Amino acid sequence: MVGVLVSGHGSNLQALLDAGLPVVAVASNRRDAPALERARAAGLPTAVFSLDCHADREERDLVLATWLEEQAVELVVLAGYMHLLTKPFLDRFPERIVNVHPSLLPAFPGLRAIEDALAANVETTGVTIHLVDEGLDTGPVLRQEALPLEPRATLEERIHALEHRLLPTVVREMMAECRAR
Ligand code: GRF
Repeated sequence: MVGVLVSGHGSNLQALLDAGLPVVAVASNRRDAPALERARAAGLPTAVFSLDCHADREERDLVLATWLEEQAVELVVLAGYMHLLTKPFLDRFPERIVNVHPSLLPAFPGLRAIEDALAANVETTGVTIHLVDEGLDTGPVLRQEALPLEPRATLEERIHALEHRLLPTVVREMMAECRAR
């Protein structure tokens, strides 16, 4: 069973849903994340774990992990989730947290990966799916696919289309591995 963490529009969440993956719960750090609307429209349980309501990140992450476990989540997918996760959360889902990032890591980590690639005028950028650790986009890479930077005008659109293909593919493979264990 897959739990998805979101902060934004949720197009990657939508790609997971459209691919028929067993998403059972969606959580966000932001009450106003449009992705939560998509989750509700799909009839999924949603919850918001805002930092404002907790003493610190560790406490928030513990409550979030417990909620996901209560929903029978085995694999956690960060689909545009914009907070780093702390050790108490990572320890609850070892090797079972995946992130999608719009660059060929380790190039261009952080929030502005597409803009940074454009500004650096690299020949090639792409998409990375990786396991999550405490760092900013630093966990072991599971899959990468490259894209030419040109034509620049369509780069963002092409990156997102690639994310929407790659993320469900890797998540499906990980679910199959979980079941085989
Ligand atoms: C994606 O580009 C993802 O790689 C990045 O944040 C964006 C989220 O988009 N981490 P969405 O909310 O899935 O539409």
